[in-house]
Amino acid sequence: MADRSAFEMLLPAEAAARLGSGPIDARAYHDPDWFELEREAVFKRSWIHIGHVCEVPDIGSFIRRELEFARASLLIVRGKDGEIRAFHNVCTHRGTQLTDAESGKGNSFSCRYHMWTFGSDGALLSAPDFEKFGLEKKDCALKQVQLETCGGLIFVNLAKAPKQSLREFLGPIADELDALPIARAIEFHEYTFEIAANWKIYVDNFQENYHLRFIHTRTGAATISDENPLGYPTHYGFSGPHRGQTLWRNPNPPPTPTVQLMAMTKAMQAGARDGFPTQKTDFKLFPAMFVLGLGGYAFTHTIYPLTAGKTRGVIRYYWPSKADSASTRFAREYAMAVVRDIHAEDRGVVEAGQKGLGRGVLEHIHFQEHEVLCRHLNEQVRACVDAYLAERV
Ligand code: FES
Ligand SMILES: [Fe+2]
Repeated sequence: MADRSAFEMLLPAEAAARLGSGPIDARAYHDPDWFELEREAVFKRSWIHIGHVCEVPDIGSFIRRELEFARASLLIVRGKDGEIRAFHNVCTHRGTQLTDAESGKGNSFSCRYHMWTFGSDGALLSAPDFEKFGLEKKDCALKQVQLETCGGLIFVNLAKAPKQSLREFLGPIADELDALPIARAIEFHEYTFEIAANWKIYVDNFQENYHLRFIHTRTGAATISDENPLGYPTHYGFSGPHRGQTLWRNPNPPPTPTVQLMAMTKAMQAGARDGFPTQKTDFKLFPAMFVLGLGGYAFTHTIYPLTAGKTRGVIRYYWPSKADSASTRFAREYAMAVVRDIHAEDRGVVEAGQKGLGRGVLEHIHFQEHEVLCRHLNEQVRACVDAYLAERV
């Protein structure tokens, strides 16, 4: 259940009345020119989730993140003062990429080309024969990127002067994220996959249940029944550019095979012991991130556009303690495997959506009232693009 304090929760018909029912321009889902606008107007100006504080636990710890939508490689570094900062992974001498390492720890970064050396705060510390440049070291620091955290999650904003702080952008959801145990996580399981589809086709797949009955025949039985044959949520929630929903639960789900049931129960008990909420959390953060907390679990699913027709998803299950037994380890792996099964079912149909829309034969697509979250995303993206274009006039 989305938290009602952070979202305005509406019945499906109320939400549809609010957002309208007209056809949607199909071009936004496949056109490379429109995607270029989205890169500039949405992704290079929004707060984008790129990691968790537990990945940079110590002074000098760093991770590298590639953000293809901005053609950026970023270094996320914990400095001597304990602050986490983001820098472009680009030497300020002649632009060489500083490191290819995915993560590491050290006091400094030395460029392999001519040994310019930068501190964990981005300052240029030393450079051979530096006096021959006629430069000041203070003018040669690594290019910094805006970084803020909320609930243990690291976000960056590639705008030079973001219009909102991260907390302003998240609104009341920020307090909800702070309260989630993801903030205290010390480890996570992750899997990533690339998919041949536009990022909005991908995101939309995870914000409507209309397809559950047809695509998730193996995994979706617990969320549908004769009472609610298409497994529709009961409410949809809105909070600025972000969304939520209240999922309906089948009161009489089909029995789960014993071993799987034991694994799920074990993981949920371990999560509950660590203080994970049993209440359901379901945040859909703009532009492309889901935060879900099921009973005893918490996971994030972040979507990064690569091109107009290619996208990467990163799924993480967060855990607030080390797995202290083989059975807990198994239970956690099992939780991941369940999500992978569901996503494996989604993948084919999402890619088929791209294939079909990419033909360019449809002028419009259509969203019914239970696809209102898809309509809301489309509306928010369009508003960002309109604002961006208006600024350029
Ligand atoms: S390009 Fe990095 S030191 Fe020359
Ligand atoms: Fe699905």
